[in-house]
Amino acid sequence: MKKILVTGGAGFLGSHLCERLVAQKHHVLCVDNYVTGSRGNIQHLLSQPNFEVIRQDVCFPLYVEVDEIYNLACPASPKRYQSDPIQTIKTSVLGAYNLLGLAKRTKSRILQASTSEVYGDPHVHPQPESYWGNVNPLGPRACYDEGKRAAETLFMDYHRQHNVDIRIARIFNTYGPRMAVDDGRVVSNFIVQALRGQPISIYGSGTQTRSFCYVDDLVEGLMALMESSIAGPQPVNLGNPQEISVKDLAQKILSISATESKVFHFPLPVDDPKQRQAEISKAQQLLCWNPKVRLEEGLQKTWAYFKETLDK
Ligand SMILES: NC(=O)c1ccc[n+]([C@@H]2O[C@H](COP(=O)([O-])OP(=O)(O)OC[C@H]3O[C@@H](n4cnc5c(N)ncnc54)[C@H](O)[C@@H]3O)[C@@H](O)[C@H]2O)c1
Repeated sequence: MKKILVTGGAGFLGSHLCERLVAQKHHVLCVDNYVTGSRGNIQHLLSQPNFEVIRQDVCFPLYVEVDEIYNLACPASPKRYQSDPIQTIKTSVLGAYNLLGLAKRTKSRILQASTSEVYGDPHVHPQPESYWGNVNPLGPRACYDEGKRAAETLFMDYHRQHNVDIRIARIFNTYGPRMAVDDGRVVSNFIVQALRGQPISIYGSGTQTRSFCYVDDLVEGLMALMESSIAGPQPVNLGNPQEISVKDLAQKILSISATESKVFHFPLPVDDPKQRQAEISKAQQLLCWNPKVRLEEGLQKTWAYFKETLDK
């Protein structure tokens, strides 16, 4: 049984991760400032003796004793991270700095939740870890993309300079229950619009592609990466390689909803990537990890979650 710190533990991914670690009988310390997460996401864990929560911003140092750290704190939806860009980049950079300092002092292994956004609008497709990316450092997405890139740099430097035991997960689009209703990411957007009988909003022509990973698979991948003795210090892509266009995703969701919602097209946001597909051969090789949940199955489960949430 380990003492495990999960920052961003009240968020979408963090709450699922906390749930899995608590079930494994680890002592889990969740740190969150609730900027995009919620107590509701971890309500069911609060009565567990091996689960604890601290309300804190990771931009400030944390003085706790732990054996392992998962650093997930950072809003992930463009709408949310662009609403306070200075706080977003501070969270990535100062958060990484503070938590790496904690990892150094406590000699803990530390995993960074990085992102496929470090590849920007990629010129290489699909994106292997060796690709350096095509990121606009000045645009409205830079607070997130460049913040996460700088955090990766800090992780590598803490490893080289202080021998901190690091893991870096480059997470591709992930979806599932406990995404926030208003979070504005494509899967939750489409499902919530269909459930409310509103038109489905597609940005651009909808031919841009994404690959979507179900949350249970992603959490398995994060834990496998943390536990692996051979996967550090280097970035490892985690995601589902099944690529789909945004307009085909809308059709899938409309067929689950069996509704007649219309589709409306809006201009593409600035710097929106045209294609994104996870290249996961490294994770397959190093972690023996593969996503298992098919898109249709994951969408059904996510649909059921949002229906229950909106019916409350
Ligand atoms: N979900 C995805 O598709 C995806 C893809 C790539 C990377 N990631 C990364 O995974 C992590 C979790 O993403 P998510 O989808 O669960 O997002 P989320 O917004 O649901 O969760 C982020 C959590 O971090 C907390 N947080 C934000 N800033 C904080 C701060 N300064 N101090 C303390 N807590 C803070 C939020 O309140 C929230 O609970 C993020 O770091 C994100 O960048 C997610």
